[in-house]
Amino acid sequence: MTTELSSSADGSSTGEHSTSRKSTLAAEVARRRTFAVISHPDAGKSTLTEALALHARMISEAGAVHGKSGRKSTVSDWMEMEKARGISVSSTALQFNYQDHVVNLVDTPGHSDFSEDTYRVLTAVDAAVMLIDAGKGLEPQTLKLFQVCRHRGIPVITVINKWDRPGRSPLELLDEIEERIGLIPTPLYWPVGIAGDFRGLLKRDDNSFIRFTRTAGGATMAPEEFLDAEAAEAREGEAWTVAVEESELLHETGADHDQEMYLAGQTSPVIFSSAMLNFGVHQILDALLELAPAPHARDAISGTPREVLDPFSAVVFKVQAGMDTAHRDRLAFMRIVSGTFERGMVVTHAQTGKPFATKYALTVFGRDRTTVEDAYPGDIVGLVNANALAPGHTLFSEKKVEFPPIPSFAPEHFAILRARSAGKYKQFRRAIDQLDSEGVVQVLRNDIRGDASPVLAAVGPMQFEVITARMQGEFNVETTLDNLGYSVARATDAESTDELNRQRGVEVFTRTDGAILALFSDKWRLQYIEKEFPKLTLEPLVAASD
Ligand code: G4P
Repeated sequence: MTTELSSSADGSSTGEHSTSRKSTLAAEVARRRTFAVISHPDAGKSTLTEALALHARMISEAGAVHGKSGRKSTVSDWMEMEKARGISVSSTALQFNYQDHVVNLVDTPGHSDFSEDTYRVLTAVDAAVMLIDAGKGLEPQTLKLFQVCRHRGIPVITVINKWDRPGRSPLELLDEIEERIGLIPTPLYWPVGIAGDFRGLLKRDDNSFIRFTRTAGGATMAPEEFLDAEAAEAREGEAWTVAVEESELLHETGADHDQEMYLAGQTSPVIFSSAMLNFGVHQILDALLELAPAPHARDAISGTPREVLDPFSAVVFKVQAGMDTAHRDRLAFMRIVSGTFERGMVVTHAQTGKPFATKYALTVFGRDRTTVEDAYPGDIVGLVNANALAPGHTLFSEKKVEFPPIPSFAPEHFAILRARSAGKYKQFRRAIDQLDSEGVVQVLRNDIRGDASPVLAAVGPMQFEVITARMQGEFNVETTLDNLGYSVARATDAESTDELNRQRGVEVFTRTDGAILALFSDKWRLQYIEKEFPKLTLEPLVAASD
């Protein structure tokens, strides 16, 4: 990152000075790309992340980013539970330079139980890479995450991975994408060699051939050889002619890249890869640089969008505690929306109107933390011990702004949490408040049950495991969980509460954000009450797949 801005911050505010600041800011915005990889577990997201970082030469050998079982050092698997299950619950943001650009890759939790968290992460990105396993095609979690991207207007580049393994035909995979999600696939490259015999990629815009060579275990960058069509045919024979024919077929059906349609979410450029062998990875990075949008204005509650060149503003999209057991700190991750961030600047927390000092600002790469001196729109910055900040909150300087809150999802799992020992009650309460404000789970209360054993509401049951593990590990409180027999929630209001509470199989609670929720034993109970009491307010909540 440049230090031009901090060194020029001499207090003068001449027109010339501010013009030069603006042009530096504009240049920094233009060279940034902030994206997330969305995929079903096991499609190869961790492997691809490593490969992307390797290509950007950030790490010398693949294996230092995520490291699940059998891989090298683990950096993002910070919880025992993650290690045991081989899943990544925590999100980390990776920043690397690539060809004069700054790329921010925001990690999304792969498991559907954490879709609320994933949704928050997706509010922080401008583009997404949809990673598909060539052998499996579209899988449930990919579909769900894709819907979130569509809902938020995030353009998607599709990567069909594991082409080194036997799998389906490329045309069949494209058909599936088009039929099931209505997104027109427009391949930028076409595989030469069937799935399982991946020789290289035909670059469709100039009909040239990028030939790959395997390296041991894909641990280093795969050498690429660039050949023209004639040389490619001489080298690969039928595999090349088949690729050319299929590419022409695509052209005839109009499946060529169209930048406007891609940005409008109607088409998706497609690349074939083997993240494991580092094939096609460089092409993914190039596509991100060339096609994915740079950071742009964001809608505010007021209706006036915050432009990227406006004074500093940022949105908090994730709060995470306990990442570093040695420090027990709490990090709030913000995505910078506008202006220049300089460490130490005092900004305003829109939700409270209070000043917020940003002395401890970090980038977090797995367990490595580096102090951030300055950052620009698109960048992800972690603020240490930012206890007042919660997902959806806004920070700004000078010109006031507040971004819309991030919606909570409809919970489908409910349980009562209790401290095993009454002597731990104080820690228990403190822990609940903290986990609630981080958005790990929703916390519901009502007068009948009292405050000693709050009801936890989750989108997926694994959220409960995170709660009990963290209660024990971070707060030293042993807890028990008793499932409550509810499975459907609706938003209601104070006027409807008494009538609802009189019904069997229904209970009304208030969530920490003030929302009043009615829980029903099952959907039939809900349907019956809707029919019997049509005047009651019962609104559906945002579902995980909306
Ligand atoms: P995820 O983060 O999306 O859950 O997937 P991850 O990268 O962990 O990959 C899941 C499995 O798929 C891993 O195998 C990984 O090596 C393999 N894989 C990823 N990309 C490719 C690819 O392009 N080609 C092939 N053939 N395999 C790929 P594993 O045996 O579960 O784990 P590991 O012991 O190899 O780490």
